[in-house]
Amino acid sequence: MSDKVLFFDTTLRDGEQCPGASMNLRQKLEVARQLEKLGVDIIEAGFPCISDGDFEAVSQIARTVKNCRIAGLARCVENDIRQCAAAVAPAGDRARIHTFLATSPLHREFKLKKSKEEIISMAVAGVKLAKSLVADVEFSAEDASRTEHDYLAQVVEAVIEAGATTVNLPDTVGFTTPQEYIDMIQYVCKHVKNIDKAVISVHCHNDIGLAVANSLAAVTAGARQVEGTINGIGERAGNAAIEEVAMALSTRPEAFGFAAGEQPHHLNTREIVKTSRVVSRMSGLSVQRSKAIVGENAFAHSSGIHQHGILAKRETYEVIDPAIVGWGETELPLTKHSGRAAVKARLEKMGHTLSDAEVSQVFERFKKVGDSKKFVYDDDLASLVNDSLDTHNGAWKMVDIQFVAGSAARPTATVQLEKEGRTYTDCAIGNGPVNACFKAIDRITKSKGALVDYNVRSTSVGQDALGEVTVKVQFGDCDCKPVSGKGAATDVIEASARAYLNAVNRNLTLESLATNA
Ligand code: KIV
Ligand code: ZN
Repeated sequence: MSDKVLFFDTTLRDGEQCPGASMNLRQKLEVARQLEKLGVDIIEAGFPCISDGDFEAVSQIARTVKNCRIAGLARCVENDIRQCAAAVAPAGDRARIHTFLATSPLHREFKLKKSKEEIISMAVAGVKLAKSLVADVEFSAEDASRTEHDYLAQVVEAVIEAGATTVNLPDTVGFTTPQEYIDMIQYVCKHVKNIDKAVISVHCHNDIGLAVANSLAAVTAGARQVEGTINGIGERAGNAAIEEVAMALSTRPEAFGFAAGEQPHHLNTREIVKTSRVVSRMSGLSVQRSKAIVGENAFAHSSGIHQHGILAKRETYEVIDPAIVGWGETELPLTKHSGRAAVKARLEKMGHTLSDAEVSQVFERFKKVGDSKKFVYDDDLASLVNDSLDTHNGAWKMVDIQFVAGSAARPTATVQLEKEGRTYTDCAIGNGPVNACFKAIDRITKSKGALVDYNVRSTSVGQDALGEVTVKVQFGDCDCKPVSGKGAATDVIEASARAYLNAVNRNLTLESLATNA
């Protein structure tokens, strides 16, 4: 067993369960390729039996990614496990089935309505079936942190005996504390006689803000697989942020039971910032500015005292060299004179694997933006990729937008959209130009969205910077999860309309997946 900590990335499964974070196939593949560059050990690519879209995504990722294990999630029931095996099959001997079943008294009594013995036999049967289909089987005892220790130990021993090679002990509701988690793992290590035949894994949620601390505590107790997501996205308050766990281990190995100077994991940390950005763009979820490691302010020093200290010796106020996590690796910006080949090469360097037709689509937008802006920075370009390609067959595309606004004028917008070769035009009056654009889009697309969140930021520097707008829109009744959308343009009203249209398109994708499921 490797003594290094293995990273099991669940951005594409638990992360994608985050409200508003759904990704289409192209976006999932982009994230998976970047996770491969980052060097995560296992990618949990989805929950294959949940929808055809998830099945397809897991199977395409299993086909595309060559250097990571590919896991799919399955409940401990035959149909889920068989579908999961089929979805991960293209990964060959790198395929993993991750099957789970809740073990805590609350889940046993109220959710599953099963006795302790029934749970053990379901878990054993599920693991045995999975083992007959793939060699690499992970079992998760959902809500392990609220399960009686002696019963948890019995479950763990039984699933290892049945063939599980990784046993995950999740803190499903983000309730435990570092010491409690250590006690639980030590108990399992002491009382499970075959524990040396499996890797102990942990999976922490962040409901009381302890996901990273609990994951690190678990490592000191002997866990050698940490599950988490990039930027900490995930259900409710999210999952443990992989970049934070990784950098805590790299920066302070001796604090977590490793030798000073040892690299306790396999990640290529220089890919961290890039991965964070890819996930943020693809999921539509912005990263908090002051977020550790990957937030824009993570290495910004505004006070004079700190700036002076940094200039005298970086270590006075910085515990990590920002270059180690990939900050500051910016290239010369492109300009309107840059040709298609230069744009294509830069896109490839940024990690975007695009077809020729997609490059042409992005290049078309690049040319328009280049006309109204002196420099096009990598972040600008990334926003354009998102904006130009976040579409699917049958999606609405922005053709033109005109608006009138002013202190005395009635805000009016005329929007022209295209779908499957036909153009549609409509106009609307709103309480401001942005609202008027949204209403005109609603009229054309026959949707009815209610804006629940709106943010604008500049993707680069200068007065001609691109404005990137993120919106969250509720379609249908108020029980539906809001859908997020992003759009970028030098004009923030156009960027807002693009973001809204992006949310409309995402909602259409979700609706069609739901009807096909
Ligand atoms: O939080 C959880 O317990 C999970 C399991 C499916 C691993 O996501
Ligand atoms: Zn989870």
